[in-house]
Amino acid sequence: MIVNETLKIIQQRRSIRSYQEEQIKEEELQVVLEAGLYAPNAGDQAWHFTAVQNRALLERLNLAAKEAARQMPIEFLKELGNNDHFNCLYGAPTLIIVSGSERAPMPLDADCAAATQNLLLAAESIGLGSCWIYFVLMAFDSPQGPALRRELKIPVDYKPYDSVVLGYKRDATVHVPERKPNLITYIR
Ligand SMILES: Cc1cc2nc3c(=O)[nH]c(=O)nc-3n(C[C@H](O)[C@H](O)[C@H](O)COP(=O)(O)O)c2cc1C
Repeated sequence: MIVNETLKIIQQRRSIRSYQEEQIKEEELQVVLEAGLYAPNAGDQAWHFTAVQNRALLERLNLAAKEAARQMPIEFLKELGNNDHFNCLYGAPTLIIVSGSERAPMPLDADCAAATQNLLLAAESIGLGSCWIYFVLMAFDSPQGPALRRELKIPVDYKPYDSVVLGYKRDATVHVPERKPNLITYIR
């Protein structure tokens, strides 16, 4: 069986939902962002990365996302929005929002997802915890959405497609569930 560092990192990475307070090092942030920039893209790099490390702003994003979630017609989102103990960023000190140009000739969702996966794998490779977060993007649908977009300097005509939180894991042991069987068909 072939084993190498890249394959190990892919199998080892899991969504981390509990973080230490300490901010990640600047060098770690830069390495992760750089990995995002090297993802495959159909839109000629028509994406934008917003790294947010301001605690007060992170909390406002959490609260705005929960406010928007309470208005959603989906029961589990409403419940999370109403749960005082739920922080959609899990207390992580860094959030990276991945936005894509709405002027690109094709939708940028796949480009942004590819970049997001690179961020997660790069984070794991240097020992950081990470989690892909859709929930926080609902903040942009809240009444504060337009002001938050301006404050975050998300370029005009760019849509936030994905986001990732980063930080030091609180718990070093992470359970990796068995992969489901029968998910691959071979035609040879
Ligand atoms: C598009 C997308 C959106 C996600 N949004 C959230 C989210 O808002 N909150 C969260 O805790 N996890 C989120 N996740 C993480 C998934 O829950 C997680 O990847 C899945 O349960 C598999 O677990 P693993 O990442 O540990 O392998 C998201 C994953 C994807 C691909």
